[in-house]
Amino acid sequence: MYKSLMKPFLFRKGAEDAHHFTFSMTKLTFNLPLFKGIIKRMFYFEDPSLEKEVFGLKFKNPVGLAAGFDKDAKLIDEMSMLGFGFIEIGTLTPKAQDGNPQPRLFRLPEDESLVNRMGFNNGGVEGAISRLKNRKSKVLIGGNIGKNKVTPNDKAEDDYLICLKALHPYVDYFVVNVSSPNTPNLRDLQEKEPLKKLLMSIKAENDKMDHPKPILLKIAPDLTNGQLDDIITIVQESKIDGVIATNTTIDRSQLKTSQEKVEAIGAGGVSGKILGKRSTEVIKYLAEKSNHSFPIIGVGGIFSPEDAIEKLEAGASLVQVYSGMIYEGPALMKRIKKGLKKYYSR
Ligand code: FNR
Repeated sequence: MYKSLMKPFLFRKGAEDAHHFTFSMTKLTFNLPLFKGIIKRMFYFEDPSLEKEVFGLKFKNPVGLAAGFDKDAKLIDEMSMLGFGFIEIGTLTPKAQDGNPQPRLFRLPEDESLVNRMGFNNGGVEGAISRLKNRKSKVLIGGNIGKNKVTPNDKAEDDYLICLKALHPYVDYFVVNVSSPNTPNLRDLQEKEPLKKLLMSIKAENDKMDHPKPILLKIAPDLTNGQLDDIITIVQESKIDGVIATNTTIDRSQLKTSQEKVEAIGAGGVSGKILGKRSTEVIKYLAEKSNHSFPIIGVGGIFSPEDAIEKLEAGASLVQVYSGMIYEGPALMKRIKKGLKKYYSR
C-alpha cells in the first residue's frame, strides 16, 4: 500500500515537506484509539530469537531507527509502534539551531538515495529532555550528540560534555557524532589526536556518573583504511564501547543520477542504496581488523532483510535504518525482522 499509494503522493512533495507531513500525520493518526489496534496488527512482530544483548543493553530486536529522523525526540512512542528495537535521537546540540537554509534534503530516485545538508537543525538538548521525560514507550534510546555550528573545534569538547551531562539520565547509550559532512570542519575531529582527546574526556565524564552509559563513535564511510586503523586504536585506547558505521558519504562517483542533476543539488551527504556496499565494507574491515573486539552498529542502505543480514554477517551486532524507510515504507522493519527470524533459525 505504501509503494502504490503513499509513496507517489509523498514523492510529489519536496523531500523535507514530505518529512514534516509524515511526521504530523504519524503524530495524529497513531494516537487515535481506532488506529492503534490497526497499526499494531500491521507493524508488530517480535520473537524471542530477535532479542539481543549488546554493550550490556537488552534489545528486543536488532533493528533501530538511525539518527536524524527524530532528532528532537518528538515521535518516540509512535516510532516504537513501528517495531524498532531502539531509536536514536539527535544529533542534538547544546543550543537550538536552524541548520542550513532550505532546500537541504533531496531525493535521487534513480539511485534510491537521498542527499542532505540539514546541518544539525534541532531544538537543543533541553527541549528533547522535556519530551523524553514524558514518553510512554520503554524502547531503548540512543542520544546522538554534536556541537553547535558556532562553536569552534577547539571548544567542541564543551558542547559534547554539556549534551552528555544533560541527557545522561534519559538515554540508554550515547553516540559521539564527528562524521556529519554538513557542519563545517566537524569531520576534522575524526583525526587521531583530537578524536582521542575528545573521546577520553567524554568517557571520563561518563565514568563519573552513577550509571555510566555505553559510548559509541559514529564514523564516516569516507575514511581510508589507514584512518580506520586509527579508529580501532582510538576505540581500544579510550575504552569506549563501540562504533556506528556509517554516516552519509561525500562520494558521488557511483551515482546513476545525471551529473547535471547532482551538481545542481549542491553540497550534502548521500544516504540510501548507493551507500550500502561501502558501509558494509567499513563494518567488515573494522570487525576483522579489530578481531571483533567491540560491537558495531551497521547503518547505510538497508532496504531489505538481505541487506540487514549482509551487515550482520560483515560483523555488525545491530543495524539501523533511515533512507530504506523512505523508499520502502514503514512495513520495512517487520519484513526485516521476519527475515532475521528465518535466518537465525536456519
Ligand atoms: C541523517 N543522518 C544523521 N546522522 C547523524 O548521526 N546525525 C544526524 O543528525 C543525521 N541526520 C540525518 C538527516 C537525514 C535527512 C538523513 C537522510 C540522514 C545519517 C543517518 O543516521 C544514517 O547514518 C545514514 O543516512 C545512512 O543510513 P541510510 O539512510 O542509508 O539507511
